[in-house]
Amino acid sequence: MASRDALLSVRSLNVSFAGAQARIDAVRDVSFDAHSGEVLAIIGESGSGKSTLARALIGMVQPTSGTIRLDGAAIAASARRRPRAVRRRIGMVFQDSGGAFDPRFSVRRILLEPLLLLGDAAPAEREASIERLLDDVGLSLSLADRLPHELSGGQRQRLGIARALASSPDLLICDEAVSALDVSVQAQILNLLDELQTRRRLTLIFITHDLGVVEYLADRIGVMHRGRLVEIGPAPQILNDPRHSYTRGMLTLAAPPAE
Ligand SMILES: Nc1ncnc2c1ncn2[C@@H]1O[C@H](COP(=O)(O)OP(=O)(O)OP(=O)(O)O)[C@@H](O)[C@H]1O
Ligand SMILES: [Mg+2]
Repeated sequence: MASRDALLSVRSLNVSFAGAQARIDAVRDVSFDAHSGEVLAIIGESGSGKSTLARALIGMVQPTSGTIRLDGAAIAASARRRPRAVRRRIGMVFQDSGGAFDPRFSVRRILLEPLLLLGDAAPAEREASIERLLDDVGLSLSLADRLPHELSGGQRQRLGIARALASSPDLLICDEAVSALDVSVQAQILNLLDELQTRRRLTLIFITHDLGVVEYLADRIGVMHRGRLVEIGPAPQILNDPRHSYTRGMLTLAAPPAE
């Protein structure tokens, strides 16, 4: 059961981009809390601002305005200005982890990088950490010297999760983390995330357009539409009794056709 403590508090967050014709307001006045230990799913159609919100949370894009708090303390908008102790608390898994790895780096090296950045362990401890991370995500130690392209899609996503977990984050943001995988592999990765979330007491922000995934994982659901968070609430309420017409429309579209 999720506790009521807000690990993450987002208030009046706005993110805009200079488009070719006009300004694009990708995230508009978004406010919400993520409670410690909960799974918060963020759903919404393509272009609704989900990834931009995620990238603002990890400090990869600069918000135009608004505040982000961790445990009640405001944190800098840009990752570069966040102290290491803050940065390590938020991890992110991308849709295409493979594309984010240096293709020349072995699995071991890919996991070593974040451990070196944290700079808080002796070499022998780092090797032990790598072994533990591989074990945590169900990858055999025998894969440690492989290159990313020598792994299957599912193995690469497991590696992406291991890399995100290297800093022992409290908050893990998954942006369409299973969307690029075959359905059977999706289920395995979802099981893994579910298990890791419980075991590590992670707060999970799970971004997806797949409502099946949402039903399986989410404690609460937030719905984005044109940059706004139009609705947020307990998963059963959003799925069975949505307040907002946009959410109702989306759920109707996702429902299997009547017999
Ligand atoms: N770096 C950028 N520069 C300009 N516009 C951007 C940039 N990143 C995103 N956008 C625009 O911001 C809006 C929101 O995009 P975003 O990628 O956040 O949506 P999304 O909900 O993640 O969509 P999807 O489901 O397709 O991943 C879109 O109109 C997009 O074109
Ligand atoms: Mg996206």
